[in-house]
Amino acid sequence: MSRTVYVNGAYVAEEDAMVSVFDRGFLMADGVYEVTSVLGGKLIDFAGHAARLARSLQELEMAAPVSDAELLAIHRELVARNAVVDGMVYLQITRGNPGDRDFAWPDPALVPSTLVLFTQSKPGMADTPQAKTGIRVISIDDIRWGRRDIKTVQLLYPSMGKMMAKKAGVDDAWLVEDGFVTEGTSNNAYIVKGGQIITRQLGNDILHGITRAAVLRFAREAQMEVVERPFTVAEAKAADEAFITSASAFVMPVVEIDGTAIGPGKPGRIATRLREIYLEEARKAGV
Ligand code: PDD
Repeated sequence: MSRTVYVNGAYVAEEDAMVSVFDRGFLMADGVYEVTSVLGGKLIDFAGHAARLARSLQELEMAAPVSDAELLAIHRELVARNAVVDGMVYLQITRGNPGDRDFAWPDPALVPSTLVLFTQSKPGMADTPQAKTGIRVISIDDIRWGRRDIKTVQLLYPSMGKMMAKKAGVDDAWLVEDGFVTEGTSNNAYIVKGGQIITRQLGNDILHGITRAAVLRFAREAQMEVVERPFTVAEAKAADEAFITSASAFVMPVVEIDGTAIGPGKPGRIATRLREIYLEEARKAGV
């Protein structure tokens, strides 16, 4: 069945949705995005995603095409129209269609941005069997640009990383820069050692995960010790457990890196507990 998607003010069938060939998102990857999960028909952490979107737009001198209240209404309308119970809402804003190709970007007062949203239905997403087995990762060089804190649609290298993982017969890749893990291809990375939850501190070199912020808050509330610092692959191999967080994976245990089992090679106690807490709290606070 065809989805209803949103394009620049209109709700249309996916096959009727159109964006110009001159759109700067298409020609220049000049755009930003957000992925908000849906559980039980409710949006998880919408306010966090809206705030990060505003920051991404500001960093790139792009205008917000609609208010946060309108954004929320569009998210809800798409969830309702597509009867999404569990899944995601994808949102993308590009610098629009200036009518030709040019490296210099147009005056936002003259060229409106392009706003596109669509849903992805994933029934039972929170109960994926992967959470019981954990995922396996490889480490690869982090050769992305220096502003990873901006959630741009420049996802070619993360896509290449996922393909490298696939070719290696594993689930994902952790990115390594100057000897330290930055993050996963599409998630934040954590290890646990001696009861300490260790994850890289915020900066321009990682995306400021909305799930990361929530999970660290819940961890601290549960009297778990959180240390925000870089860690190496060697430390990850010697860790008691490891996990990732993202809007689509929530908290997902990592049980192997570069062929070495982490701890007993099974999802750890802390990752499993954080997943439970996160899902419980997220469902309670969904809008
Ligand atoms: N990715 N780091 C990177 C590079 C990401 O792409 C993402 C999210 C995260 C986690 O952020 P959050 O917790 O706000 O989802 C960290 C989304 C899910 C995606 O690209 O599909």
